[in-house]
Amino acid sequence: MAQSKIEPQKSKATPASATGTGFLTSALTAPVSPAEAALRPLSFSDFSGQPKTVERLQVMVGAAKRRGEALNHILLSGPPGLGKTTLAFILGHELGRTVRVTSGPVIEKAGDLAGLLTNMEEGDILFIDEIHRIPKTVEEYLYSAMEDFRLDIMIDQGPNARSVRLSIPKFTLVGATTRSGLLTAPLRSRFTLNTRLDYYDRVTLEGIVLRSCGLLKVAIDAGGAQEIARRARGTPRIANNLVNFCRDFASEKAAGKITQAVAAAALELLEIDAAGLDEMDKRMLRVMAENYAGGPVGMSTIAIAVGEETETLEEVHEPFLIQEGYLQRTAQGRILTPKGYHAVGLNAATGAQQSLL
Ligand SMILES: Nc1ncnc2c1ncn2[C@@H]1O[C@H](COP(=O)(O)OP(=O)(O)OP(=O)(O)O)[C@@H](O)[C@H]1O
Ligand SMILES: [Mg+2]
Repeated sequence: MAQSKIEPQKSKATPASATGTGFLTSALTAPVSPAEAALRPLSFSDFSGQPKTVERLQVMVGAAKRRGEALNHILLSGPPGLGKTTLAFILGHELGRTVRVTSGPVIEKAGDLAGLLTNMEEGDILFIDEIHRIPKTVEEYLYSAMEDFRLDIMIDQGPNARSVRLSIPKFTLVGATTRSGLLTAPLRSRFTLNTRLDYYDRVTLEGIVLRSCGLLKVAIDAGGAQEIARRARGTPRIANNLVNFCRDFASEKAAGKITQAVAAAALELLEIDAAGLDEMDKRMLRVMAENYAGGPVGMSTIAIAVGEETETLEEVHEPFLIQEGYLQRTAQGRILTPKGYHAVGLNAATGAQQSLL
């Protein structure tokens, strides 16, 4: 069965932990842990932030329920850990429908897709994670499945080859992707809604941190929540991971309560700085400044220089660095901004070490 196949995912294979810089990468690329799943909001009312996306989804859910029809197809895009999978499950929950989960690279051939789709019931949701990694040969079958709810599958080969038409129940495809730019235009155009999740603001993250601490029964004060939220790079998954680490830290090294000082010390130990940058982010910035005079330089060159995979840098590190203005992306390559120089203690004009006053 297609869902049960676990295939090693190339982009997510590099354990950077050996270098001591792996917290962020592993937090954002590891499979969802049971601890994380326990913190997942189950309904829209539990899900904070992303107001536009949530409102769009609520409109569609409301209309589908009113008409008693299947929800239209939805594409959720955005950086890892912002809640795409969570929202797919919320959709199922709100509609009272089953959500079947698979991922792009796992669906290797048309038969896998047929197996998944023919086993669904009308109105069920098929969630395809990393939909940009679906093989091109399978993608074409998906078009007619999404549009006309049928699959024309070739069986046999040579003179006996014939095409069999399977009709499939009216299902809803919810696709998730961290790289919507890699999706082909025909696939993208078949989604009724294409909505992008953005990084969360600090106040929303503070709320998520407090909610998680409540669920985990961890004592935390306002200062502790602010400190974690500030360093969580706008990402709930990182916030939750930091909460877990701070909880351990608090019980080992403090009186069990996450205060601002406790959170700051714990995050220092993880080498996550006050702005949420980790060692790998800084290594990227430093390499750009010191080896490439601030760019423009290609991401694959940076990847080799820092010893990480290009895809990981593009999915995990770069979006945040761009959003916060440390990096710019141009047709010629990436350029380091003055803020980027500053973050690694260098002077933008001279590239020299800034004196620490
Ligand atoms: N709005 C939110 N409120 C509270 N918690 C959230 C919210 N969004 C996400 N989370 C938490 O963050 C975790 C990560 O979210 P999720 O797995 O849905 O991210 P994702 O976008 O699917 O990431 P990936 O691209 O890596 O698959 C969830 O387990 C959940 O606990
Ligand atoms: Mg996900």
